[in-house]
Amino acid sequence: RDFTIAIDGPAASGKSSTARAVAQELGFGYIDSGSIYRCATLLALRQNITDTGEGIGSLADLISHAKVDIKVRPSKSHQTPSLGRLAVPDVQVLLDGEDVSREIRTPEVNRLVAKIASDSSIREAVLHIQRKLAADAESRSTTSRSVDAEDMPGGVVMDGRDIGTTIFPGAELKIYLDASAMARAIRRWDEMNQMKDVPVQKPAHDPEASAAPAAVYPSVEEIARELEARDYADINRENSPLRIAPDAVVIDNTNLTFAQQVYTITDLARE
Ligand code: C5P
Repeated sequence: RDFTIAIDGPAASGKSSTARAVAQELGFGYIDSGSIYRCATLLALRQNITDTGEGIGSLADLISHAKVDIKVRPSKSHQTPSLGRLAVPDVQVLLDGEDVSREIRTPEVNRLVAKIASDSSIREAVLHIQRKLAADAESRSTTSRSVDAEDMPGGVVMDGRDIGTTIFPGAELKIYLDASAMARAIRRWDEMNQMKDVPVQKPAHDPEASAAPAAVYPSVEEIARELEARDYADINRENSPLRIAPDAVVIDNTNLTFAQQVYTITDLARE
């Protein structure tokens, strides 16, 4: 059986870049489960659905019939002090063939995604997409495997909130990544600053759409508050997805370098 690594944790804890670097190091496939919820949220915005009331059933239907694809493009090893020889591959997210990689990270999507993800019919639809993508990723064995990885079986790394508890409770390795709210906000702010040229999606039928002002990007403090609000929404909803699996290894990376946390995980995988 292939090796599954589940990496869970709160928003902006560094799950995605860590999971991608771990996948490349081990020659595993990679699946970003948050991007599937973000695709569902983008579909919601395009349908003018901003609440989990009416319309959410049809949204669950839409996302379950959509084709979500997560393509990993292996990157060359960096030689930087913070990364060492590690590489963080680029990930492209395709929704019915359309590249939505950047559009799913706009402030509008950030604000709505926790609400959309709180709906059980959406979670059920996304669960099937996750398991299917994982099966595909394992059979493809995406990235070129490094020499160190030759003694490892094939496998997949998936990051999210409930991967180790709900999606793959039998995962061979479960990691729970955490960091302080301020450390996470600073990382998210850096990410957002690289996104400033991305146009904001308005519902197509909104008459004001063409006259819409550019998005106002928040400060670090506002992001910290928004992250805490999102964590709160994620943790306090009924059947919260964000739980620590009893057999998960908890890593707080507030004071770890990127390389330290990645190698901690690859070492655990090789044990
Ligand atoms: O990880 P990312 O910030 O892209 O996830 C966006 C949102 O999707 C989270 O805030 C959470 O509400 C939801 N999510 C979830 N379960 C997952 C992954 C993401 O509920 N496994």
